[in-house]
Amino acid sequence: MQGKFITFEGGDGSGKSTQIKLLEEYLKVKGKDVITTKEPGGTPLGQELRRILLTGDVDKMDAKSEAMLFFADRRIHLTKKIWPALEKGQWVISDRFADSTKAYQYYGHNGRVSLPDLHNLYEISVGNFKPDLTIILDIDPEIGIKRSLNRAASAAVKEVRFENVDISFHKRLRQGYLEIAASEPERCVVIDANQSIESLHQEIIKEINKRLGI
Ligand code: TYD
Repeated sequence: MQGKFITFEGGDGSGKSTQIKLLEEYLKVKGKDVITTKEPGGTPLGQELRRILLTGDVDKMDAKSEAMLFFADRRIHLTKKIWPALEKGQWVISDRFADSTKAYQYYGHNGRVSLPDLHNLYEISVGNFKPDLTIILDIDPEIGIKRSLNRAASAAVKEVRFENVDISFHKRLRQGYLEIAASEPERCVVIDANQSIESLHQEIIKEINKRLGI
């Protein structure tokens, strides 16, 4: 595959979408053909899964069903959008990917889905493919939740299924991301998201240049 696949990860309200837009603009100026996308819901069919996954009661389905739906969304996303784009030489930036499932469904929800089950779902859905670079925006949950609840209050659709859980969930989530990053340092970089939009952008660019050599 010719293009590069960059994923952004982080707790709710870590500022991923703003940083993704800025990175997209930067890469375009550098002459890259870039697309941005997100999970869940990066495809039309995925949008339907997104509605099922993010609205309603936290406990409306069991953990394995939920994990399988996230991975179904992911595989549709890969086959319909990400892989074809990479094959064409495009750079793909995704707001969340498989680390989100590990962080939310395993770490956040206290191992409701086991790591071996998640590993198997990854093998089935994604195979031996992985992001070229994963940027984890690290934020104190107290700050992140406040940001994302402000946004949810003004949104038309209330997608707060995972934001309605308690602060300890978000602390486990943060710890989970740090563990994921520590276990795969060649793929993941953790960046402190509690800084200005511009300085965070500059730090991201520095990592992109260093690790992907543009
Ligand atoms: P989204 O509205 O995209 O918000 P943000 O990414 O800015 O937080 O919400 C996606 C939600 O879905 C978010 O709370 C994380 C959750 N999620 C999982 O629990 N598991 C997953 O595998 C993915 C991709 C997302």
